[in-house]
Amino acid sequence: MKAIKIEDNKAVVVADAVLTDDPRPDELLVKAIAVALNPTDWKHVEYGITTRPTVGCDFAGVVQEVGPEVTRFKKGDRVLGMVHGSNEGRPNNAAFQEYLYVKEGITIRIPDHLSFEEAATFPVGVLTVGQGMYQEMPVTWPDNPLKEKVPILIYGGSSATGALAIQFAKLSGYEVLSTARKSNFDYVKSLGADAVFDSRSPTVGEDIRAYTKDKLYYVFDTIGEHGSPEASAKALASKAPEGQKLYYGTILLKDIEVFIERNGKFEARPDDVVFSMSLGYTAQGEAFHIRDAKFPARPEDYIFAKKWMPFAGNLIAQGKVKPHRVELRDGGLDSILSGLEDLKNGEVSGVKLVYRIAEP
Ligand SMILES: NC(=O)c1ccc[n+]([C@@H]2O[C@H](COP(=O)([O-])OP(=O)(O)OC[C@H]3O[C@@H](n4cnc5c(N)ncnc54)[C@H](OP(=O)(O)O)[C@@H]3O)[C@@H](O)[C@H]2O)c1
Repeated sequence: MKAIKIEDNKAVVVADAVLTDDPRPDELLVKAIAVALNPTDWKHVEYGITTRPTVGCDFAGVVQEVGPEVTRFKKGDRVLGMVHGSNEGRPNNAAFQEYLYVKEGITIRIPDHLSFEEAATFPVGVLTVGQGMYQEMPVTWPDNPLKEKVPILIYGGSSATGALAIQFAKLSGYEVLSTARKSNFDYVKSLGADAVFDSRSPTVGEDIRAYTKDKLYYVFDTIGEHGSPEASAKALASKAPEGQKLYYGTILLKDIEVFIERNGKFEARPDDVVFSMSLGYTAQGEAFHIRDAKFPARPEDYIFAKKWMPFAGNLIAQGKVKPHRVELRDGGLDSILSGLEDLKNGEVSGVKLVYRIAEP
């Protein structure tokens, strides 16, 4: 097959890729039609991985075969899903190749109103919002929305993750506050944010605290760098009222060892804020490693994903959650290389880079 692989710390297009020969009984064989890029894709290219893995996590495609334990899908279904791309331990299975295996629990049927390109924007983002906001933090689910007005800050509302987090938080009944660069304010508001603050302002944290009258108790940070933890610490209430805790959930942490040990704390507010961090790869429920860093299996994360993904899929099918803005680029698999560069250089803002790589 044709694929994007990591060779000598570079992403390259190859024509000799083979499909992994160890499909799990709960996996579907899928022909990838459209794929989307994530920051983790270019980051893995630079990790010094030597097993020549295929890159890519987000895909939308057509089911070719189903494993013996698959119950919700059949041959011919249009599906979107997340694969563990750039995986040292399973190098011949990822999104940026023509055929791939995906676990049933991390797969969603594509509703008729969505194209493959729109569908490819969802998988990592939907899973990450589920894990970060609903598994790790005590955020109310959309099927039981809040009746009273409770603010939540989605830091980074124009990111692929933030654009989805805003929509889910709104369905959960929160008053949604967010941040972005000024040129993305209208887009972030169109997703449902009640108020948007300038992430480039040195007083963004203080401004949010003033807006909430010192009553912000929940932050889901979809950036995790560029000063977002510090700004979030300033935005959160200066003191938790009796019976209320303060929560900061993030999806990026510089010291990944801290996360593996699950003893992470919020450095910007170590004493009074409940810290959480999620990583999409753990949703496979399998152990993995990134060079020397070993990630033990977390079966509970796959159990959560199996519940969350169909739940979120229903909201997508009902049109209540819309795809992030698509920037469709020409050139198929070969062009992904320049897209990875653009993502790495911070040249992608408020859109998801998507590529059509085959016809159904
Ligand atoms: N743990 C996990 O499972 C997981 C899952 C997905 C993503 N992630 C990580 O989360 C991060 C976001 O990923 P994504 O795919 O959602 O992002 P993305 O779509 O690539 O968006 C990045 C956003 O970053 C914002 N940004 C860029 N420079 C900034 C700055 N100096 N200050 C504030 N904001 C800035 C931009 O918003 P503006 O242009 O509006 O400022 C842009 O929309 C990445 O680091 C990614 O690796 C982790």
